[in-house]
Amino acid sequence: MILNFNFSEESISSPPLLYLHIPFCDSKCFYCSFNSYTHLHDVKERYVDALLKQLEFEISRYQISNFKTVYIGGGTPSTLSPKLLEKVFAKIPKGASEITVEANPNSASLEWLREIKNFGATRISLGVQSFDSEKLKFLGRNHSKKDAILSLESASKVGFKDINLDLIYNTAIDSKELLSRDLEIAFSLSQNHMSLYSLTIEENTLFENSPEKSVENLENTKTLFEKVSEKFPQYEISNFGKPSLHNLGYWNSENYIGVGSGAVGFWKDRRFYPERDVKRYIENPLYRKEEILSKADLKFEKLFLGFRSKVGVSEKILSKEESRKADFLVSEKILRKENGRYFNLNFLLADEVTLKIV
Ligand SMILES: C[S@@+](CC[C@H](N)C(=O)[O-])C[C@H]1O[C@@H](n2cnc3c(N)ncnc32)[C@H](O)[C@@H]1O
Ligand code: SF4
Repeated sequence: MILNFNFSEESISSPPLLYLHIPFCDSKCFYCSFNSYTHLHDVKERYVDALLKQLEFEISRYQISNFKTVYIGGGTPSTLSPKLLEKVFAKIPKGASEITVEANPNSASLEWLREIKNFGATRISLGVQSFDSEKLKFLGRNHSKKDAILSLESASKVGFKDINLDLIYNTAIDSKELLSRDLEIAFSLSQNHMSLYSLTIEENTLFENSPEKSVENLENTKTLFEKVSEKFPQYEISNFGKPSLHNLGYWNSENYIGVGSGAVGFWKDRRFYPERDVKRYIENPLYRKEEILSKADLKFEKLFLGFRSKVGVSEKILSKEESRKADFLVSEKILRKENGRYFNLNFLLADEVTLKIV
């Protein structure tokens, strides 16, 4: 199925997106290098106060009356009590068209999910990774198959219609059977979006010196992607189903405000980096390092992000020579052109396509 998104140049001037980072986790997964910590639970309240201070400051700095979409990610937002999250929701201007909250199956209880739904969350993203007990242990996850199923059922029970689940593939213990059992369970539950991530070995993780933990199996990946896209159309390299408006905004190079330790922000031609260290962030939530992007950087990013997803690339940003190269890729059936935009027919080739044009 082809998904068409109506992206016009005005969407660039629409309200910005908001990303809020929650850097706490109950345990550290063996593969994860995200800015998240298991020993900082006693600073949660002070962290939320700092987060709100930065949010308030950014709202007045940019005179923001509304955010297009909001994404509360981590780390693990479900390590925050409803009482703390209520304070966060109270500071977000009303009217965003999507508010996603990430959660982990061990902490996304029925009660917690009900509360955040009442606060205004419209979409929930559950870090399932697998329903297989051995694979969960292998990845260092602290939830069971039962927790994963229960959290998805609870999300649906409290009324969430937009539910994502993340799965990891290309691990050393994957088999065709294991992946197909995972999909069978995933498809039997109420959700309308799946993110599939290939296990990447990152520095500063428990897996860092064990490259053998990740094994690429092209045949299994092909089957996995085929089965998932039969059920949910693929709209980006790793994403399938009802598109997340927030992610589409990133891929359409829209402005976003990043609030929290290590939460990157982007405005016009600048990228902003607040303190990554949680304690330093609490002391100075308004600090930010600034990076200025050149016209060439911005164009390269628009092409790369547009071609890795169904967002595509407007011909208006291409020079005559670049349009000629893009038209050639259309004649080679690598790109498709519709209403003045070029769309990539194979997201995995986004880098190559971009390099062929610029
Ligand atoms: C950083 S987590 C945050 C959400 C939540 N704490 C969780 O664990 O699901 C977002 C997703 O990134 C993916 N991820 C993180 N590190 C990864 C890695 N090294 N390789 C593949 N996927 C990874 C996981 O699938 C995870 O669900
Ligand atoms: S994958 Fe999620 S739960 Fe695991 S350490 Fe990373 S952020 Fe925390």
